Amino acid sequence: MPDLAAIVADIAAEMADAPDRGTVAQYIPPLAAVDPKRFGIAIVTDDGREYVAGDGDMGFSIQSISKVFALTLALGAVGDQLWQRVGVEPSGTPFNSIVQLESEHGIPRNPFINAGAIVVTDILLGRGEPREAIGEMLRFVRTLAGDDAIYIDDAVARAELETGHRNIALAHYMRGFGNLNREVARVLGVYFHHCALTMSCRQLARAGRYLMDGGRNPETGHNVVSARRARRINALMLTCGHYDGSGEFAFRVGLPGKSGVGGGILAVAPGIASIAVWSPGLNERGNSQLGTLALERLVHRTGWSIF
Ligand code: DON
Repeated sequence: MPDLAAIVADIAAEMADAPDRGTVAQYIPPLAAVDPKRFGIAIVTDDGREYVAGDGDMGFSIQSISKVFALTLALGAVGDQLWQRVGVEPSGTPFNSIVQLESEHGIPRNPFINAGAIVVTDILLGRGEPREAIGEMLRFVRTLAGDDAIYIDDAVARAELETGHRNIALAHYMRGFGNLNREVARVLGVYFHHCALTMSCRQLARAGRYLMDGGRNPETGHNVVSARRARRINALMLTCGHYDGSGEFAFRVGLPGKSGVGGGILAVAPGIASIAVWSPGLNERGNSQLGTLALERLVHRTGWSIF
């Protein structure tokens, strides 16, 4: 095993001085207010060790990274039937795009674009009231991370609702195609709340352990999903986890990864490590500028690319 303590410290020091940090998301005030100078990294290895540097213990809005956990829960609820309502192909379009839905009969390309995650959330809601579905997500993520301090930021969820016109449009459009069973307002209430989960890099890397470990939560010893399902979630993260930047992320980093507009990225080195990075400045495709660079450097020094 490479000297990970030294590597995370080096990367955090390099990122502290990086001049080109991207642009912090502006669409809601609680995200726009985040200091662009922040950078955190956390690695949890297969043997349970944790390596954390920079702002790796500071909470941030995980946003679209929650789509991984929502998908995992929904697969647990309905199994592979889910794939009748959501595809498994990269979209090549921005995360909030609507264009493909028209010619593709309201079936989103994959579960990691907004449209796909809204259908996944409709499935989660199928098991109860919005409050129950939100509670279930929160409990699930807390169990995965082994940390009850994880919470949902209500101010973020409220702001998302106030500015969520494109998501509202996506949801109504899919409901028009018969691919949303529940009321739009209820589905989006749950969706905006799981996007508003606040987690640190350490908590996120711990929550991702099941994806490095063949579907098993190493802390509880329970199978969160089967090994086959964990492989498939990783495959989708690799091909679709960064929207129209997924090819570039695979090219530069070579790991399954899921980004969020809060500047976080969860990445998985299967069998080796679960990794989370955070820096709020985004590149032109809405993915963390320094988070991607940090992962590129990490993989360069560890040889963890899956290729
Ligand atoms: O629904 C939205 O648009 C946001 N709550 C999440 C989008 C997001 O994280 C896209 N990621 N880069």
